[in-house]
Amino acid sequence: MANHKIKVKVQGVEHEAEVESRLLLVHFLREVLGLTGTHIGCDTTHCGACTVLLDGQPVKSCTVLAVQADGREVMTVEGLEKDGQLHPIQEGFWQEHGLQCGYCTPGMMITGYALLERNPDPSELEIRQAISGNLCRCTGYVNIVKSVQYAAAKLRPSAE
Ligand code: FES
Ligand code: FES
Repeated sequence: MANHKIKVKVQGVEHEAEVESRLLLVHFLREVLGLTGTHIGCDTTHCGACTVLLDGQPVKSCTVLAVQADGREVMTVEGLEKDGQLHPIQEGFWQEHGLQCGYCTPGMMITGYALLERNPDPSELEIRQAISGNLCRCTGYVNIVKSVQYAAAKLRPSAE
């Protein structure tokens, strides 16, 4: 198995590592960098618990090789909080009870964050479409939608 030197920026900080060709991005994040907020919920690319941003786009990190992230930027759920302040998407899940077991939550929050970056005022249908690749076995999704709506309202300039 060949090894490769890679450089990946995670939450803006560059990390260099030597990794096997077959190492998945989710394992790189969790096991090499210790960022265990990104979860693994399946081995079939279905659940979305492993969702991170790769150059700003949500990807399922169990379906991306670490070497594919070479020279690119990753943001994980740990990157949402800034200077001890929760991001509005995190506040939304807190305020609207958008989780029960919490297993899907990191992926849901990253997907919700990415949606609001490209569409600050999504309809309920647009939110449901955006999270359609993220499975939750606990909540029934109603409060997850409300959590994203909370964040959208909080992020709108008029909310300040
Ligand atoms: S762990 Fe990646 S989609 Fe389920
Ligand atoms: S809160 Fe349990 S899987 Fe979503």
